[in-house]
Amino acid sequence: ALYGVVLAGGTGTRLWPLSRAGHPKFLHPLTGTDASLLQATVDRLDQLSPSDHVFVVTGVAHAAAVSRQLAEVPDENVLIEPSPRDSCAAIALAAAVIARREPEAIMGAFASDHLIADKDQFSAVIRQAMGGAQQGLLMTLGITPTRPETGYGYLECGSVVGDGPVLAVQEFKEKPSYDVAESYVKSGNYLWNAGMFVWRVDVFLAELSRQQPQLAAGISRIAQAWDSPSREDVLGEVWPTLPRISVDYAVMEGAATVGRVGTVTGDFGWNDVGDFHTLGAVLASDQAGNVVVGRDGADKSGVLLRETENLVVVPTAGRLVAALGVRDLVIVDTPDAVLVCPRDRAQEVKQLVDALKDSG
Ligand code: GDD
Ligand code: MG
Repeated sequence: ALYGVVLAGGTGTRLWPLSRAGHPKFLHPLTGTDASLLQATVDRLDQLSPSDHVFVVTGVAHAAAVSRQLAEVPDENVLIEPSPRDSCAAIALAAAVIARREPEAIMGAFASDHLIADKDQFSAVIRQAMGGAQQGLLMTLGITPTRPETGYGYLECGSVVGDGPVLAVQEFKEKPSYDVAESYVKSGNYLWNAGMFVWRVDVFLAELSRQQPQLAAGISRIAQAWDSPSREDVLGEVWPTLPRISVDYAVMEGAATVGRVGTVTGDFGWNDVGDFHTLGAVLASDQAGNVVVGRDGADKSGVLLRETENLVVVPTAGRLVAALGVRDLVIVDTPDAVLVCPRDRAQEVKQLVDALKDSG
C-alpha cells in the first residue's frame, strides 16, 4: 500500500482574512461541503492508503487541530515540526520516518490545500505513478496548463518510459517568469506540476543526499533519534539548522537534469485553491454565478443576496451578510476583519497582507 504523506503547512495569505497564521487554509471548509481541505485530502487517499499508512507533517501550532480533524490518523503519524522550514524538510522527515518502518516503501506527498473533483480518476493516476516509482523514478503528476501561471512548476515532457503511461521529464522549472511561462504554454510540450509526488523513500533519500547533503544529514540524525527518548532534543537542535527550501528547488529541478523524474497526467479536476476568485470558479454557484463558500451550493443561510451576480461570499462570523445590486465581488466576513474586493483582483490580497505586516 501507498504511504500517504499530507503536508499541512503554510498559511495561504491570498485567502486573508479567512486564512490566518492561527487558522490556516487547510483547516477551513473550502470544499463545498463541511469537510476542511485537510479532511478532504485524507479522505481522498482511502482507496490507496489504510489509515495507519497516512502521515501528516504540520507545525507545532496546528498539531492539536490537525489531530482533532483527523480522528482516524494515529497520533504517532502526525509529525510535528518545531518551525516551518518549507516543503523539502517536511517531506524528507516523513520519508526518513517511513523508511525506518519499511525501507523501500512507496510514499506519495500531497498538498493539503488542493481541490480534486474526481477521486476515482485521482486514485487511478496515483496507481500509475506508483508504477513509475517502482521503476526508480521520482514521479510527479502533470496537469495540462491553461494559462501562463507563474506560481507553479513546469514539466517538460520527454519520451514514453517503457509501455507508458509514464513520461520522462526533461526539465523541471519551478516558478518561471511570466514570459518563460507563456512560451512554455505556447509550446504545448509542458505540463504544470500538480505539487504531488510519488517515489520510493530510499530513492528520494538518496537523491536528497546527492543534492542537499546538509539537509539529508540533519534529517538522518533526527530519524535515528525518532524512537528514542532524545527525539525532542535532537529535533530541537537540528531542525532550526535545516535549509529552508521547497522540494521543487531542492530536489526536483536537479533530479530532472539527470533523468530521474517522471510524470503521469490525468484529468481529475485539479485545483490549487490559491485565492477567492479561483475558489469561486470551482465551487457550485447559483444561476447568477454567486457562490457561498463553506457549505453546499444550495445552502444560502446567513446570506441575503438581491440582484447580485458573480459574487464569492464567505460568511464565517455567524452574522447575516447582505448584498444588493453588486457584481463580481469577493466579500469575506470574519469575526475581526472584513474584505471586499473585485474578483479579478483577488490575487492582490497577498500584497494587502504584506502591507499590513509592514505597518506592524
Ligand atoms: N508541513 C509543512 N511545513 N508543509 C509545508 C511547509 C512547511 O514548512 N511549507 C510548505 N508546505 C506545504 C504546503 O502546505 C503545501 O501543501 C505544499 O507544501 C506546497 O507548498 P506551497 O507553498 O503551497 O507551494 P507552491 O504552491 O508555491 O508550489 C508548489 O505547488 C504548486 C501546485 O500547487 C510546487 O510544487 C509547484 O511546483 C506546484 O506547481
Ligand atoms: Mg500552493
